[in-house]
Amino acid sequence: MTTWQKSDWRSRPRVQMPDYPDQAALHAVEAQLAKYPPLVFAGEARNLTAKLGQAARGEAFLLQGGDCAESFAEFSADSIRDTFKVLLQMAIVLTYGAKLPVIKVGRMAGQFAKPRSAPTETQGGVELPAYRGDIINGFDFTPEARIPDPARMLQAYTQAAASLNLLRAFSKGGFADIHRVHAWTLGFTDSDEAEKYRDMANRIGDTLAFMTAAGVNGDTMNALSVVDFFTSHEALLLEYEEALCRVDSTSGNWIAGSGHMLWIGDRTRQVDGAHVEFCRGVMNPIGLKCGPSISDDDLKVLIDKLNPKNIPGRLMLIARFGAGNVGDHLPRLIRVVREMGAQVVWTCDPMHGNTIKSASGFKTRPFDSVLREVQEFFAVHAAEGTIPGGVHVEMTGKDVTECTGGVRAVTDEDLSSRYHTACDPRLNASQALELAFLVAEELSARHDSAAAAAAV
Ligand code: PEP
Ligand code: CO
Repeated sequence: MTTWQKSDWRSRPRVQMPDYPDQAALHAVEAQLAKYPPLVFAGEARNLTAKLGQAARGEAFLLQGGDCAESFAEFSADSIRDTFKVLLQMAIVLTYGAKLPVIKVGRMAGQFAKPRSAPTETQGGVELPAYRGDIINGFDFTPEARIPDPARMLQAYTQAAASLNLLRAFSKGGFADIHRVHAWTLGFTDSDEAEKYRDMANRIGDTLAFMTAAGVNGDTMNALSVVDFFTSHEALLLEYEEALCRVDSTSGNWIAGSGHMLWIGDRTRQVDGAHVEFCRGVMNPIGLKCGPSISDDDLKVLIDKLNPKNIPGRLMLIARFGAGNVGDHLPRLIRVVREMGAQVVWTCDPMHGNTIKSASGFKTRPFDSVLREVQEFFAVHAAEGTIPGGVHVEMTGKDVTECTGGVRAVTDEDLSSRYHTACDPRLNASQALELAFLVAEELSARHDSAAAAAAV
């Protein structure tokens, strides 16, 4: 019997969370949020866990992507639609190329709170508290904006609810119907990748026309007219997470009502810390970011705490080591998992280990390094005989210039032209598609070698 309580994290050391100067205002917001409806429902989290269990076995593949930080100012139906379109395109490329079902999870509808590498930021000799995401404080470089304001949690909740509503409408209301595979293309993705995508879409269109002509209809065709789409975010701001935590009446288990999947960041995964304590008690699928500093012993304790019943699909290990470093760390973590007999979904985040400062002063990520980390991730799994289960990326449907490189090459000088992120640099639509084609190739190569091995 679990005696876990949703407020237990409060007695644990906390990092990366704000100290609210106005405690009365904080408590009022918490009380209000606790009365609001949860955004997701336990049956959905169970369904996602089951699907992720397939990814753990190599029978499906996880595609997780979206903004580094969602922002209040950039909130619009168009930006949600465009990110959703790119995720659908990436999913089609992966499904078609790798012949695997793709589990689609957005870093959307709740991805507002950010861990920071430094508590303060200095500009022109002025030092202010760091920006920690729109759910906590403001991006403007003024002392007032940087004061943590609990009322921002209410705005984040409202924005998450409206975003999720639109995503549910897109997923089930006809927008994601596979017959519209051409319509997901964005006007500006005029590159080799877009051409490759058009070819693939044509072939899918032909197949669908053939299926219809051959008399396939009913449930099969209906299944192709909708998609399952899930939301995720970093469970960083625990006052918000606790306020939206509910008991599932069917199972009696706790569910974090803020999103389908939560993850623990690389900076907040202390084994006895507040974030691990909160996440271990909720039934949602949990991601654990694993950077170079994670020790084998810590990983062992974390797996035991976060997935004591060893449920497949409950725990994602999200490797984010940086290109050139995967071979130094992933094999040792795989060894730990193997020795424990642990069920995990190995996921690759090729973004957070590859952040650099460009010569022009922007925080960027060379797209080559992003691709290289993905290749290293697949190579290690091929060598170890383990299963690459997913990718986790920061991307957007907007035509931004935030990561350098790609077929439609973004140069250092271009970065200033359309650099809109509130936090980390994201892949633009062309780069995201290019990455999807690479992952599809890696997956089908893996599939072919497995088939060849089985035939011997
Ligand atoms: C993130 O995913 O935005 C993030 C901060 O990642 P990490 O915890 O891996 O640095
Ligand atoms: Co980020």
